[in-house]
Amino acid sequence: MLPPVPVITVDGPSGAGKGTISHMLAERLGWHLLDSGALYRVTGQACVIEGVSWDDYSAVAQIARHLEVAFSTAKSGEILVAYKGLDVSLAIRTEEGGRGASKVAAIPAVREALLQRQRELQRSPGLVADGRDMGTVVFRNAPLKFFLTASVLERASRRYAQLIAKGESVSLPRLLEDIEERDTRDRSREASPLVPAEDAIVIDSSASSIAEVFERVMHEVRNKGFDE
Ligand code: C5P
Repeated sequence: MLPPVPVITVDGPSGAGKGTISHMLAERLGWHLLDSGALYRVTGQACVIEGVSWDDYSAVAQIARHLEVAFSTAKSGEILVAYKGLDVSLAIRTEEGGRGASKVAAIPAVREALLQRQRELQRSPGLVADGRDMGTVVFRNAPLKFFLTASVLERASRRYAQLIAKGESVSLPRLLEDIEERDTRDRSREASPLVPAEDAIVIDSSASSIAEVFERVMHEVRNKGFDE
C-alpha cells in the first residue's frame, strides 16, 4: 500500500498569520494549499448573492452542498475566487465577508457539506491545510500540526494595517470588537470549535516577525523530514 499523502495543518484564530505562513510553506515544499476559510467565506457571500439570510440554516446548508466555487491564480500570483463564474475575491476578504463566514461556519450541516470537498484536496505530493479545525477534525491524522496564535490587540493591529493598505476605511476599536466577537463564536460553537489539537505545536507570534515564525515552522518541518 502507498503511504498516505502527507498533510501539514495550520490552525488558529483570525489574524495570527496562518494565511501567510501556509502560503510560504506550500510554496517552499511545492505542496498544494487549502485555504478552508475561503470556502466558508464564499458560502457566506453566496448567501448574499442568492438573497439567503445567514440565519436560515437549512437554506445556507443547501447552498454549501451545491457551492459552485472555482479557485485560480492570477499572473500576479494572487488567488482568485469565483462563485458561479462571478469574481468574489475582493468581496469575501472584507470584514463583512469574515462575519458572514463565521456565522455560516457555526452551522453543523454547512461544516458537514464542506468536509469532503476539503479532504479531496489531499493530493500528492502533499497538502498544507489552513483553517480552524484542520488538525482536530478534517485531517485528524496529519503527521504535523501547528496552532498559530497572537494577542487580540496584535491581531487587530495587523488586520488594521492590511485593510488600510487596501484602501478600506476601518476603525481599530471596531476591528478589535469584531475580532473578539468572531473569536468567541469560533471558540464556543458546538461544531468543530476552535481549539488546538492535542498534538499541535502551539506558536504565539505576538512578538515575532513572519520570518521568525516561518523559521520555527521550518525547523519542525525539517525534523519530520519533509524538506529535503
Ligand atoms: O481563515 P478565515 O479568516 O478566512 O476564516 C473566516 C471564518 O471562517 C472564520 O472566522 C471561521 O469562523 C470560519 N472558518 C471555520 N473553519 C475553518 C476555516 C474558517 O470555521 N476551517
